Amino acid sequence: MNAGLLKGLGADHVIDYHEQDFTATNERYDIIFDAVSSRSFGECKKALTRHGVYVNTLPTPSIFWHIGTTTLLPGKKAATMMVSQRAEDVAWICEQLRTGRLKVVIDKVFPLDQVKDALACSRTGRARGRSF
Ligand SMILES: NC(=O)c1ccc[n+]([C@@H]2O[C@H](COP(=O)([O-])OP(=O)(O)OC[C@H]3O[C@@H](n4cnc5c(N)ncnc54)[C@H](OP(=O)(O)O)[C@@H]3O)[C@@H](O)[C@H]2O)c1
Repeated sequence: MNAGLLKGLGADHVIDYHEQDFTATNERYDIIFDAVSSRSFGECKKALTRHGVYVNTLPTPSIFWHIGTTTLLPGKKAATMMVSQRAEDVAWICEQLRTGRLKVVIDKVFPLDQVKDALACSRTGRARGRSF
């Protein structure tokens, strides 16, 4: 469990997903950002506030269907996001790093000739931050 790491990055409250299903409590959220896209809009809907938004990082047919249907209706929404490489965004990220508002977590550092191992580490789904 990475609770200590997450609190160090600024999280006020941490839920261990191995121990507790956050959708099965009475807590309601304005935004659920599913960074590893391990849940679905259907599962998370009940944990959203009336105008809450579920956002994932994996553009599947299912999420597009939910985006389409929830856009037409009032209330809870579904959304997805794709990273695009734009110079102004990179400049903005550099500024956040410079001012300390954004912290980068490096799990392990690999020499260039071990790039295969770095990619394998990243693909485990357990990396604590990035591998370089
Ligand atoms: N949309 C885009 O443009 C875009 C771009 C890049 C990546 N992605 C997507 O973003 C996701 C994250 O990628 P990544 O390479 O940064 O990380 P990753 O290697 O997939 O994530 C590793 C971290 O996620 C945690 N984790 C795994 N399953 C979890 C769950 N069910 N609930 C909460 N935390 C969980 C792990 O913690 P534990 O070890 O404690 O499980 C570990 O700290 C991937 O699904 C990838 O496809 C999207």
